[in-house]
Amino acid sequence: MEFRDVLLSRRSIRHFDGRPVPVELLRAVVEDAQHAPSWVNAQEWKVWIATGEKLEAIRREYARMTAEGVKGYADFTPAHRDQWSAMAQDNMKTFSERRIAAGLLEVKEASQAQLFHAPAVAYLTVPKGASLWAVLDLGGFEQTLLLAAAARGIASVPAYNLVKYPDVLRRELGIPQCDALAVGIALGYPAAVPLNDFRSTRRPVDDILTIV
Ligand SMILES: Cc1cc2nc3c(=O)[nH]c(=O)nc-3n(C[C@H](O)[C@H](O)[C@H](O)COP(=O)(O)O)c2cc1C
Repeated sequence: MEFRDVLLSRRSIRHFDGRPVPVELLRAVVEDAQHAPSWVNAQEWKVWIATGEKLEAIRREYARMTAEGVKGYADFTPAHRDQWSAMAQDNMKTFSERRIAAGLLEVKEASQAQLFHAPAVAYLTVPKGASLWAVLDLGGFEQTLLLAAAARGIASVPAYNLVKYPDVLRRELGIPQCDALAVGIALGYPAAVPLNDFRSTRRPVDDILTIV
């Protein structure tokens, strides 16, 4: 695939079908992602991938806690909506309204509670107290991983919701307390459901670009 085709083919998939992703393919995607650049080549990220029985145990616990209304307590504390920039609030409002209008809010919430039915979830960590540079690098690594997956025919969604109960992940995956769980990436193959037809939009480039 041409790079631009990979770029345009990647979009968030929020309901996966039952097919597992071969372990060798998951490993190859992470190897590809390791080409991401980082400050002084520090490469402070780590990847923990849950599949099979381990992932089912996480899925059961997340579904139970979500059903009981346990509020998320992610290691990266999400800022309250009031503290978001006007641009972020505006984008989120448009995004939510479009999803509600399409009748997909509850459908999305239900799938999300089941870890989007993904056969594999990659959890990305950085050392707690890492510099802003390390977090910036982790974002680059995340995007490289998403594109590497797309190039190999694997669909994905990066999600805060996948790391909202970090103690469950520490317990099941043996992630030490010194590593912060930044984001989860659900990986798999798209189910043929309307939720996966939903498209996000982008601001006009002139809203964000200055060339002098
Ligand atoms: C750090 C991060 C966290 C996200 N968390 C969630 C989430 O919890 N649930 C969800 O459905 N999507 C989540 N998303 C996906 C975004 O909503 C999505 O990337 C955005 O709307 C753009 O759509 P696209 O990925 O299809 O291009 C997250 C994305 C990022 C980068």
